[in-house]
Amino acid sequence: MREQEGIPTLPSDAGNIRRAAEALRSGRLVVFPTETVYGLGGDAASDAAVAAIFAVKGRPAFNPLIIHVENAEAAFALGDATPEARRLAARFWPGPLSLVLRRRPDAPVSLLATAGLETIAVRVPSHPVARALLREFGGGIAAPSANISGRLSPTRPQHITLPAPDIAHILVGDPPTVGLESTVIACLPDTPVSMLRPGGIPLENIEIPLTTATSESETPSSPGMLTHHYAPRAPLRLNATSMRNDELLLAFGTPLPNARSTCNLSPSADLREAAANLFAHLAHLDAEATRLAEAAHTSDLPTIAVMPIPNRDLGRAINDRLTRAARG
Ligand code: TXA
Ligand code: MG
Repeated sequence: MREQEGIPTLPSDAGNIRRAAEALRSGRLVVFPTETVYGLGGDAASDAAVAAIFAVKGRPAFNPLIIHVENAEAAFALGDATPEARRLAARFWPGPLSLVLRRRPDAPVSLLATAGLETIAVRVPSHPVARALLREFGGGIAAPSANISGRLSPTRPQHITLPAPDIAHILVGDPPTVGLESTVIACLPDTPVSMLRPGGIPLENIEIPLTTATSESETPSSPGMLTHHYAPRAPLRLNATSMRNDELLLAFGTPLPNARSTCNLSPSADLREAAANLFAHLAHLDAEATRLAEAAHTSDLPTIAVMPIPNRDLGRAINDRLTRAARG
């Protein structure tokens, strides 16, 4: 692997942590050390920053991201605390544990970060630089491992090989002490506690009975096994090149004429903008379809027609999610 070119690599002193928090606030990305691996962080509340994370990593699908927060209280403001979640948090946070919780409706987190799921993964890291950055930033930081999708997760700054433009800084600190990604455990209401990814906390240390839902890792199957993918109530018709009667339109680029209602993923046909808008626009059209059906006193919801999205870059991930949503 080659050393990262073109991204300022900064020691994690107070001034640089402040600079990094500023960059996050302005929607840019920051690479920072955690006790597990280096993370590629962005403002979890920003659709655009989260879309940039997926673009930079080249993730083939919108595999949901772990939201890093300062403490358990902040974590449980994003996802509902079950009794087991509280016990695990008290024992292992801060540290290499991520909890998948039921997402709270008021969580200020991009729908793209949780891939439209009803759940959310949260983690309180223990690395002093990660903690200082979270404190300075004040909100949730969405952060996957700072590797290109499919490559090794970096534990040294010289192993980071990400494309430069969206990344403001690489903060350098003491190397990760764990060196392995966090253990991911789902604690959802009325569901057995289950281990979704083995990781930095040995299973033997977890004194709660666990079911094992799946093995590792960057496959979207773990969330898939656990809970529903986002699926609108309204039927979806993909690759629409003309409108049929009564349909709503999810447009990309110049919208097709004659839709009852239109949301445009990106008027300029920009895939990153489209990714940032995907789940919010689908949810909006779904609500609109429900409203129209209710007004017409029918249980048949109008179809949402979706214009073709090119199958490259983030378009592949968008099409992956749309195909799943259409199946649901
Ligand atoms: O140690 C770590 O967890 C590192 C550092 C940077 O914190 N982060 C990390 O993130 O490994 P990432 O994106 O490489 O892996 C996140 C894992 C994926 O396997 C993903 O499917 C799972 O967490 N995950 C995230 N949200 C989920 C959800 N709502 N339901 C189920 N699985 C989820
Ligand atoms: Mg990873």
